[in-house]
Parts: sequence; structure tokens; C-alpha cells
Amino acid sequence: MKKLFIVANWKSNKTRLEAREWLQQFVKRDFQVPQGKEVIVCPPYHLLPFIKDYLLEYIAEIKLGAQDVSSFPSGSYTGQINATQVKEFAEYAIVGHSERRKYFSETDEMLEEKVKMALSQDLTPIFCVQGKETKIPSGVTVVAYEPIAAIGTGNPDTPEDAEEVAVVIKQKNPQVKAVLYGGSVTADNVNSFTNVSVIDGVLVGGASLDAKKFVGIVGNA
Ligand code: PGA
Repeated sequence: MKKLFIVANWKSNKTRLEAREWLQQFVKRDFQVPQGKEVIVCPPYHLLPFIKDYLLEYIAEIKLGAQDVSSFPSGSYTGQINATQVKEFAEYAIVGHSERRKYFSETDEMLEEKVKMALSQDLTPIFCVQGKETKIPSGVTVVAYEPIAAIGTGNPDTPEDAEEVAVVIKQKNPQVKAVLYGGSVTADNVNSFTNVSVIDGVLVGGASLDAKKFVGIVGNA
């Protein structure tokens, strides 16, 4: 059976109090992630230490990821969080989300550096692509296909389109082990994507902010 990645991307949402409320609903003591599924929560940086402590206390097998990582090492780069710092709390880092490309002018060259930095610290980049032509840096093993028109719109791509893109990505990039789908994923549509043999999970934005909805997604995936 394939392993499914279910990734929550909280984007720029939630205070510590709101994160605590979410965790209280999502995580019960000795919380068991269903077999064959890897649940990865990617909160804003400032919540990583708090959530890590909470998960340790509740012995919850949930993994943590950052939503980005600096393309620079530690040093005089005001405002940046580097891969060594992320690695203290997380095992994954989303790299190249279309919002980073659009609002923060991230280029293919910068993203290549980010991937290198992540890999140098044993962080697994979850590299976002917007289509089958998006450049994938070497060393990337987990890709999230996130068509822009499907993000936050309530109009997901079709499983058939996502399947076609996943096939091409895997053919062109033999090092890629997992291709996830992202864009308006809900508890109702998640298994139409995860049932596709070449799709290895989902990256969830809006619906991951509500713990109950996310429980539904994890259950139905
Ligand atoms: P969405 O976002 O689930 O709100 O469409 C997905 C994403 O941007 O990661």
C-alpha cells in the first residue's frame, strides 16, 4: 500500500491561542495517525516550538513542516529563518508555493537555493509546482502539484488532470517519489485524488484551518 502524505498549510493564519484550540480538537492523548498516512502540519514559524512541545506531550505522531526556508545560511540576513533553525522543530519545508512566487517574487534560482539549504539540513522539501512544466530542482523527492486556479477558489482540478500531471512529473524526474495534489481539497473530494494510484497525498490550505474539517480529510484520504 502506498504511503499517503496529508499536509496542512496554515499559511499566515492563527495565533498561539487559536493553534491551541485546533490542537485540542485534533489531537487526543496517544493520538494515532491512521496506518499508511503521514500527517504534516505546516504552521507559521512562530508556532513551531509551541506545537512541537504540544505534540511531544500528547505523544502525537504528527510531523511538522515550515512553509518556507531561507535561501541563505545563518548570518546577516534580516528577517530570514534558515534551514538549521527550521530543523530544530520540523522535518519538512514547503518550498516554492505559488503565493511565495507571486507576492515575494521568488524565482527558480532562489528556489533551487532553498532546496539545497533544506537538503543540507536533512529537511525534506515539499516542492510546489503549478503545472507539469514547472522546473523541479535536483534532490527534490516530494512534489505538490498546485494549479493556481484551484487554490482557495473552491474549484479543484479534476483527478484526471492531476493524474496526468503526476505521471509526467514522475516520468521526467525519476528522483521524485511522491506527488501530492493541492487546491480546494475537502473531506468530500479528497479520496477522488488519493484513489489515483500515482497521487501520493494532498496539500490542504483553507480546509486545514478547521480541525474538524481536517480530521475529515485525514479520515477520508
Ligand atoms: P486551498 O490551498 O486548499 O485553500 O485551496 C491549497 C494551498 O495553497 O496549499
